[in-house]
Amino acid sequence: MKTIYEELLERGMTRRDFLKMATVLTAALGLEHTMVGKVVAAMESKPRLPVIWLEFQDCAGCSESLTRSHDPYLTKLLFNDISVDYHETLFAAAGKQAEENKERIMKEYAGQYVLVVEGSIPTKDGGVYCTVSGKTAIQQLKEAAENALAVIAIGTCGSFGGLPHANPNPTGAVGAGSIVKDKPVINIPGCPPMPEVITNTIAHVAILGELPELDYLGRPKAFYGQTIHDRCPRRPFYEQGKFAESWDDEGAKQGWCLYKLGCKGPTTYNACAVIKWNEGVSFPIQSNHPCLGCSEPNFWDNGPVYKPVAVPPGLLEAEGKAAGASVLAGGALAIGAALVAAQQKKKAAEAGKKEEQR
Ligand code: SF4
Ligand code: SF4
Ligand code: F3S
Repeated sequence: MKTIYEELLERGMTRRDFLKMATVLTAALGLEHTMVGKVVAAMESKPRLPVIWLEFQDCAGCSESLTRSHDPYLTKLLFNDISVDYHETLFAAAGKQAEENKERIMKEYAGQYVLVVEGSIPTKDGGVYCTVSGKTAIQQLKEAAENALAVIAIGTCGSFGGLPHANPNPTGAVGAGSIVKDKPVINIPGCPPMPEVITNTIAHVAILGELPELDYLGRPKAFYGQTIHDRCPRRPFYEQGKFAESWDDEGAKQGWCLYKLGCKGPTTYNACAVIKWNEGVSFPIQSNHPCLGCSEPNFWDNGPVYKPVAVPPGLLEAEGKAAGASVLAGGALAIGAALVAAQQKKKAAEAGKKEEQR
């Protein structure tokens, strides 16, 4: 089988352009400059890995996000060179023709393709709530995962069940990791996830043929290693105890911290505050909207959206009156954040137990 490098040469790429591409790619993958040699060696020695992208209970917002990537090298590499071979939304083919193509890839590239899963998988009533070409999502996922090199769950739906999993979860929706048990599932949560995080993670697996370092929820640490709060430009106001109390008060106009308006940034791990959306233009908090915690499990059920949940009653009210108000506010919010985190862990553990019992 031809290597990625050989395929690129056949398409008219010069050695010089290839080396340039590898250098840009190394940076895009979040690797040190000294790793360029490793990326070059991987592309010179490994064949291209096809990508099969399945969609189950989703809104296709994650696919939409992918098409908004502002990294032309990576997007071109993924679509033209690594090749997303099967994608229900972006694929020109449909119906029988598309399914046959998927079966062919699964057979020809057994053990060598990357499986991407967007959307949650319904488990109630035999999984009848989502079927593709006569097979339930559970069957489709199990079949495709069996010979996949790696499984990447995209979006909070694909990773943790997402919106369909929200109480009362009528379809018994779960993330891919609850079905695929015999190999690691990389989770790329977010509703939707950032396009650069999707492309970089797929490229990491497809080009280097190895998994990125993951956190305890299976998320790549390079992108989910810090909270939104850690890198938030409003953080100095949080430290000073300066909070917007309503959407149009003086604090909101001054760009103060949005914690009291329901910001979940302190307990949300994602890269929005650093990479930002729409080609690095902005992210929710910069656009005056609190972080909703969209990359965390059960975020739809984690308390009222626009209220600072889990802050002990009275503490926030007291902060303005007491001496050392900012210190008290910081303490209260830290307690609030810790409680939110504890609540999330408890819910995740409960959800895990329920899924195990099914
Ligand atoms: Fe849509 Fe969000 Fe689910 Fe992605 S994670 S499919 S954007 S609801
Ligand atoms: Fe930023 Fe939200 Fe943290 Fe305030 S609570 S500093 S708005 S992340
Ligand atoms: Fe989601 Fe919060 Fe980023 S809501 S898009 S993780 S700022």
